[in-house]
Amino acid sequence: MTTTYNFSPGPAMLPPEVIDQVRADLPEWHSHGVGQGASVMEVSHRGKAFEALIDEAEQDLRDLLAIPSNYRVLFMQGGAWGQFACVPMNLLRAGERAGYAVSGGWSKSAAEEGAKFGQVDVLASSEKDRFTRATKINCELVEKYIKMNARPDVAVPAAWSYLYLCSNETVYGNETHVLPKDLPAPLVVDASSHFLSRSIDFDGVGLVYAGAQKNIGPAGVTIVIVRDDLLDRAPKAIPSVWHYAHMAKHKSLFNTPPVFSIYVTALTLKWIKKEGGLAAMERRAIVRSSMLYDALDASKRFVAPVAKEDRSRMNVVFDSGNAETDAAFVKFCEARGLMSLKGHRVRGGMRASLYNAMPTEGVEALVAAMREFEAL
Ligand SMILES: Cc1ncc(COP(=O)(O)O)c(C=O)c1O
Repeated sequence: MTTTYNFSPGPAMLPPEVIDQVRADLPEWHSHGVGQGASVMEVSHRGKAFEALIDEAEQDLRDLLAIPSNYRVLFMQGGAWGQFACVPMNLLRAGERAGYAVSGGWSKSAAEEGAKFGQVDVLASSEKDRFTRATKINCELVEKYIKMNARPDVAVPAAWSYLYLCSNETVYGNETHVLPKDLPAPLVVDASSHFLSRSIDFDGVGLVYAGAQKNIGPAGVTIVIVRDDLLDRAPKAIPSVWHYAHMAKHKSLFNTPPVFSIYVTALTLKWIKKEGGLAAMERRAIVRSSMLYDALDASKRFVAPVAKEDRSRMNVVFDSGNAETDAAFVKFCEARGLMSLKGHRVRGGMRASLYNAMPTEGVEALVAAMREFEAL
């Protein structure tokens, strides 16, 4: 029987051990050895068992990421798109502006969504390079931007409420490997597609968020890590479920949370801990992605277009330069159990998503298929 490997960009593969645990827990969920008489989807989120689960998930996340004590962890809904709006709703102060680095479709959409709520400036963009590199922002760039855009009728440029970037652009496969520091405003990071594949340096970071469905669980829960001092910025008029301070006050249990998604996320967090934490996840990600990029760089048929220093360890984008050859390769791979390699519709080509749960054997099988295809 052919072993199947799932290279889906998200919803994406979860560790088989987590799936096995979900299967075992489905008829009756046991919380700390005590049967709940029902599955996790069928018990109250206000009961002791679920409260213990969400508390433990938060603690595991804090341990894994070494989250400083002055940050809150929120389990929210609405996905990353929800955060595209939630961030400006909560953080963009009247009379101020927000600066976005655009390095792909997700940060571009976030900037467009943000502009519905206030003044948004695109500080830099790699769009003209077809997002084959990440966009770097630093203090000098921000200052230069202010000077270049100063208007004689405005005496002092408005202050920045926050600066924003997407640290792994899932569609185009570029990753920001070092977050900028010493910026003139808190940094907001969309880390959705490489969350928990590496550590995060929280110095200068105001907020990090990630949708679960790439690296940690099923779609439904969005994790937000926000610095305490940013909580009281939000105007009162925003909806309660989008209000960071309100959700923090209620420990993410203001209304019914996505219980199943949180439960699977909690299991995945335990799995990451058991496997050796983020250091182990990072080591594995480097092994997997280097193996594939090395094969692509040596290939006569396929090219990985992203600049070497910005290549994503999670989403490896490549193509042959010919749409028909790309489609034939995707089909060739499917026949060998290598699934979901078709690139995003706006990018085309191929994309191999190598999240935490992907075993090295999956990448070996993909490289072998590439060699076989090239020899045809
Ligand atoms: C980096 C990134 N940000 C935002 C999104 C949008 O996420 P959602 O569909 O959960 O709103 C995605 C989806 O793939 C993504 O990869």
